[in-house]
Amino acid sequence: MRHCDHHVPEAAAELGDSGEAQPQPFEVPPIAANEEVAVHEHLSPGLSHGIDMVYSWPRAMVNRNRVAAQADEAVIIRTREERELERITRPDVQAVIYSPPALPAWFTALAAAVRNGSFRIPRTILSNASADELRNWLGAHLPTGGLDPEVHAALQQDIISLVDRLGVTTGAVRFMLRILTGTPNTECGFHVDTVPPRAPTWGLMRLYNGAGTAYVDPSNVISMDAVYRYLSRRERLARERVAARDDPTASAHLERAIAQLDAERAFLKQPSDVHLAPAGSIVAFKHIDIRLHWSHHPTAMAWIHCSPMEGEPRLLVNVTAWAPGLARRGTHESAR
Ligand SMILES: [Fe+2]
Repeated sequence: MRHCDHHVPEAAAELGDSGEAQPQPFEVPPIAANEEVAVHEHLSPGLSHGIDMVYSWPRAMVNRNRVAAQADEAVIIRTREERELERITRPDVQAVIYSPPALPAWFTALAAAVRNGSFRIPRTILSNASADELRNWLGAHLPTGGLDPEVHAALQQDIISLVDRLGVTTGAVRFMLRILTGTPNTECGFHVDTVPPRAPTWGLMRLYNGAGTAYVDPSNVISMDAVYRYLSRRERLARERVAARDDPTASAHLERAIAQLDAERAFLKQPSDVHLAPAGSIVAFKHIDIRLHWSHHPTAMAWIHCSPMEGEPRLLVNVTAWAPGLARRGTHESAR
C-alpha cells in the first residue's frame, strides 16, 4: 500500500494495542523513483503567501450522516503569532498556519543537508510513544549525516517541542510521530490526512525546507463530496499508473490524466485560488478520523492540502496524539 507524506497507514492503528514500552518504528517504502516526475504547471500561478488572519464561512452543506449535527463553519488562521496555534482546538478551526517572522540560522544548514542528500531519513512512523520515548529514539536514531552537532541537537529539540506542544494542549501523553525526507512527486494530489479511530483529530506538522504545502480555503470548497470524487478518481489513476509502469504509452496517458485532474481542481469554486504553507511554518491542522474518511462530513473537520509535486527533497515531521482508547499505559504520566 502506498501513502502520501503524512497519511496514516491503516496498519498503524493497530500498533498501540501492544502495550509495548518502546515505540514501534516502521518504515514505509519510498515512492518509486520513476514516479518522481513533476507535472503540475498549473499549481504555481494561484499560490499565495498571505500571512494574516483569514476567516471563511462557507455555505452550510447538506449533512447526511451521524456527524450532521456538527457545525460546518470552517476557519483557517494564518498568523505570525505562535500562540495562535492553540486555536486549532476550536471545532470551527480547520487549520492554523504559523509562519515565524524569522527562522533560526540552523534551518539554513539543515535545508542544505536535506537538499544535497547528505541528511536523509526514510519514511518512519513511531506510534504509541511517550515524549520521553520519542526523545530517546531521536537521540539514538535521528541521522547525523551532513549536520553539525549543534544543528542536529537543534533539530531534535525542535521536533520534541512539537510533541510537547501537542501534549500540553491536548493532554495527550502518547503520540504518533511521522518523519521523512523525500523528493516531491505526483503520487498524491489534494487530500485529507487521517488518524486512527477515536484518536484526537488535530496534529502538528512542520516543514523544514523546500517547496511549501499547498492548501485551499474551506470557503472555496464546493463540498466534501466533490473533494472525495476528485480524490477517489485520482487514487484510481495513480494505482493504474503503478500497474502500467512497464507500458510507456499507457503511463504517459495516465500521467496526463492525473495532471489534468490536478489542474482542473473540480472540487473548488475558484480552482486557481490555492495557498501555500511555506517552509519553516508550523501547521496545526485537523485530521479526519479514518472511520469518517469518504463520508459526508463537514468541511471543517479536515484540512485539504497537497504536497509539492516538484522541487528539492524536503524534511517533514508530523505529530498527532495517540488515541487514549488505544493506549494501555500512561495514566501516571504527565503531559510535557
Ligand atoms: Fe497530507
